[in-house]
Amino acid sequence: MHIKGFALLALSVAFVLACKAPEENKKQWWETAQFYQIYPRSFKDSNGDGIGDLNGITSKLEYLKEIGVTATWLSPIFTSPMADFGYDISNFVDIQPEYGTLTDFDAMIKKANEVGIKIILDFVPNHSSDEHEWFIRSENREKGYEDLYFWDDGKDDPKDPTKRLPPSNWISVFRGSAWKWSEKRKQFYYHAFLDKQPDLNYRSPTLVQLMKNVLKFWLERGVAGFRIDAVPNLFEISKQSGGYPDEPVNPNEPDDQNYDHLRHIYVIDQPETIDMVYQWRKVLIDHQNAYGGDERILMIETYSEPAYSNQFYGNKTTEGAQIPFNFNLISRVNKNTNAEGFVEAIDAWMKAMPSGKTANWVIGNHDNKRVPTRYGIKRTDFMNMLIMILPGVSVTYQGEEIGMLDVELSWEDTVDPAACNSNSDIYEQFSRDPCRTPFQWDNTKNAGFSTGATTWLPVGETYTTYNVAVESATTGNSHLKIFKTLTDMRENKALQYGGYRYFSYNNVFILKRWIDGGDTILLIFNANSQSITVNLKDADESIPDNMRISVVSLESIKVIGSALGSSVQLAADEAVVATSVERKLFRYGSL
Ligand code: GLC
Repeated sequence: MHIKGFALLALSVAFVLACKAPEENKKQWWETAQFYQIYPRSFKDSNGDGIGDLNGITSKLEYLKEIGVTATWLSPIFTSPMADFGYDISNFVDIQPEYGTLTDFDAMIKKANEVGIKIILDFVPNHSSDEHEWFIRSENREKGYEDLYFWDDGKDDPKDPTKRLPPSNWISVFRGSAWKWSEKRKQFYYHAFLDKQPDLNYRSPTLVQLMKNVLKFWLERGVAGFRIDAVPNLFEISKQSGGYPDEPVNPNEPDDQNYDHLRHIYVIDQPETIDMVYQWRKVLIDHQNAYGGDERILMIETYSEPAYSNQFYGNKTTEGAQIPFNFNLISRVNKNTNAEGFVEAIDAWMKAMPSGKTANWVIGNHDNKRVPTRYGIKRTDFMNMLIMILPGVSVTYQGEEIGMLDVELSWEDTVDPAACNSNSDIYEQFSRDPCRTPFQWDNTKNAGFSTGATTWLPVGETYTTYNVAVESATTGNSHLKIFKTLTDMRENKALQYGGYRYFSYNNVFILKRWIDGGDTILLIFNANSQSITVNLKDADESIPDNMRISVVSLESIKVIGSALGSSVQLAADEAVVATSVERKLFRYGSL
């Protein structure tokens, strides 16, 4: 199909920003970084127990460097009964024995420094484990610990005077009442997640200080920052401002055990949360002032609307989190999204982000279906191209670089509490196990993840196709080669400092990056279900003539290094990256 230039305005939605004067020396390391999330339990097992560990991570830091990762954030590695696989912490300042020791941690940091990879830890401030000594002491009403958690007498039970009812109708994220009765303390406690994850009370100054000490402990051991877990849940409406009122029911979700059954006006996104994040950033700034080194960063988990979440960046007088995660490409994009849908999802972040801030792009994590499963196998490479070529930082979840798929698990094999708290008919809606199976390193037993007889979750059946060794060794193209070429490309000034324009043209998504006096980089993706021919000059007359093909999606038959030409034919879901770069820049391209 050939569309004339005059139709461009009518058919396309575009967002353009020209960037003339690159202020290169003003960028901090993280502003041009490629982040990589490790789920430690499933990354690399060094001792054959079927569970990933710190020494396993240390042994693979060179791999991360090789694929162009700047910094890695680790899901929790701290002492835990593992009710929520590490998100239930019983000691915030020690390592889960299955994962190693503090000595192993120090060795990991040392190696990371040698290799040049920054380590970021998951900070889980909203709750502890019910096996944490703070909770045990609080339950025992020990002085100084009484109000570290939310305790309440609950209500009279009109049917039975010997019983108490929960203080409110609040529902846990993992289903059912968010209040649990403690026989010991004869009160209810609040838990936004599992009953084994009691919520910490940030209205207690003691608790605030204890958690700041946790940050300091890890900063002193050499981490580059933190990913902060479950930030929206941090504060609940204060008891002083009306007790624990019932939340209104959401009529669209009839299942009264489901979290979405209520509209969460009292338990998420309370105003005090913003200031708490500022206080944590201050801990990082103070540490940096005392010890020097590169800027320490906060990456925070938030799902809120921009009007609220933009405040996390900070304000005129106070610094906030550098990277409030942008999940728009997860929540607004799927297998069927058309080119305009991509433009809208990107706009939703770019137009709402305060000026001067750095965008970030997340397409997966340990809580969501994997990239090829969610967007379709054919769109996997495009999604990696997109997050690497859009302005800002990319965030990759382990396995996205090799196109790992979700692994289906039976109800019997399911271990994720989010699923186990439901039933065998609906568990797949909730289970996060499918995206947490062991990382696929090679063709050997257990995909090279572990030498053990079994692994904590089964290895995916497609591991002989999708693994690091096979995808590195192939003489043809692979997800991994595509990924590496893209991270190499991110050293180009056009991507780090350049202008950008993205738009849809005949349901083809086009993203252009350029720098004045320098290179142009182009990403073209055919979102149509049939092939199409695009006349580039009609789409954007400023696209240079000398573009060469640098990266193509796996099924593409285009030749790397060949001229892009002005008339480009694209198969359904085909994605192509072309550059005006004349010299040989990329390890895997043949320019
Ligand atoms: C966050 C984590 C999730 C965990 C929950 C409770 O949402 O990403 O994995 O279950 O917090 O800590």
